[in-house]
Amino acid sequence: MYNDNPTLESIKVIDEKRQGEAYAQNNLNTDGKKRFYIESYGCQMNFSDSEIVASILSEVNYAPTVEMEEAHLILINTCSIREKAEDTVRKRLRIFDKIKKKRPEVMVGVLGCMAERLKEKLMHEEKLVDMVIGPDAYRDIPKLIATAEDGDKAINVFLSREETYADISPLRLQSNGVSAFISIMRGCDNMCSFCVVPFTRGRERSRNAFSIVAEATDLYNRGFREVTLLGQNVDSYKWLNPETDVKVNFANLMEMVALVHPDLRIRFSTSHPKDITEEVLHTMKKYENICNYIHLPVQSGNSRVLKLMNRTYDREWYMDKVKMIYNIIPECAISSDVITGFCSETEEEHKDTLTMLEYVKYSMSYMFFYSERPGTLAAKKYPDDIPLEIKKRRLQEVIDTQMEISRIHNENDIGKTFKVLVEGFSKKSQDDLRGRNSQNKMLVFPKKEGLLPGQYAYVKVTDATRATLRGVLVDSMES
Ligand code: SAH
Ligand code: SF4
Ligand code: F3S
Repeated sequence: MYNDNPTLESIKVIDEKRQGEAYAQNNLNTDGKKRFYIESYGCQMNFSDSEIVASILSEVNYAPTVEMEEAHLILINTCSIREKAEDTVRKRLRIFDKIKKKRPEVMVGVLGCMAERLKEKLMHEEKLVDMVIGPDAYRDIPKLIATAEDGDKAINVFLSREETYADISPLRLQSNGVSAFISIMRGCDNMCSFCVVPFTRGRERSRNAFSIVAEATDLYNRGFREVTLLGQNVDSYKWLNPETDVKVNFANLMEMVALVHPDLRIRFSTSHPKDITEEVLHTMKKYENICNYIHLPVQSGNSRVLKLMNRTYDREWYMDKVKMIYNIIPECAISSDVITGFCSETEEEHKDTLTMLEYVKYSMSYMFFYSERPGTLAAKKYPDDIPLEIKKRRLQEVIDTQMEISRIHNENDIGKTFKVLVEGFSKKSQDDLRGRNSQNKMLVFPKKEGLLPGQYAYVKVTDATRATLRGVLVDSMES
């Protein structure tokens, strides 16, 4: 569930591999306000959290800037999922250090998962860090800024069982004015043995359903046409309405959001294979505005490895879920996350992952080699015994397999017509527009007078590459 699609000109891409980006909101009235600069790394939840942080800061007279040189406050919202993610953050801190040397009054705050994982240690290891703020402590930022300004240690890494920031209206930073994220829950109660998230994000809790619907309605009224409901495991969303005692599950919530307006598209991420239900699939089928796309990370195609990973499903069970999805929604696209070279994975077991990709025919996958994370179950129980070059070679095989599947997946779309939500100009040419179809595939097509971002268009696919579909505008689905 990574944000791999920074699109606006106003976004500075720091690392081409979807590692992070600087936020911009150029049209804010910044008169008399202090400026903050924020970079976000990791999953969409982190990007969404940065918008909550921006909202909290805007209440205390701070406005965002893309120029770190003019910022009074530099924030970095960090990810701990793999060692490389943490290395990237440390490299960025070196850059911030240069600014601090020139302007010692600038304050640097580390937010997010790395702040939570390392706590005070981060302040000892990284001398320039003035503030360390965990994912559940963002309301405390104004107080922590004051503490740091007084020269004291500003740290809050308290993990809450209740905090969902339900009442905070995010300040949309990385906005194309068309698509927005809505966090519907926080934390994770699964204990996948490789994963640091339960330690950095705490216990799972679901946000008040009415506050989610209100946020979606507000976005629709402001011209947005697509919302992505976010959580580490959205299918385990559950909220009890305290007034009526009625339980709201994920299928119910999706329906509530789908009813905001038929022109508001609904996406969601991430689905854990063990929790996605038939009810969710039938709700997707019932509403045209719920997109036919499921991110259903498999991690490995081998049952023994899945058991070691503590994923709670095996190969056959996952395949049955996939069958159920294609039975109920034949046109559904499924994508995945894959880890290669997990502890003790054999060559045969790795091949099971390759055949799983072939079986499901994922439209795309995020693929990684295993990176041991301190404190996780796997780090405690299983030696990280697959040599790096083997992990990387297996990863390359997974990537090659997926690239071929993606190419075929896209070629199969040639001749089909899709309803596309226009997002803006194509990255390559101002003569072309781009937008996504329900299956989350990007389509590029010649622009037309009067067709604007946020509007729907019908596009017939004429050409396909591994990454993009090209097409022409047509009048309707039938043409
Ligand atoms: N909640 C989501 C995943 C969040 S983390 C889910 O359950 O699917 C995003 C992805 O990072 C994971 O799906 C996994 O593929 C990868 N990942 C997590 N921990 C990792 C590790 N220690 N090494 C390599 N990849 C990892
Ligand atoms: Fe990590 Fe597993 Fe939770 Fe996903 S479901 S965040 S992989 S522990
Ligand atoms: Fe997300 Fe990375 Fe944290 S994936 S939850 S930002 S460890």
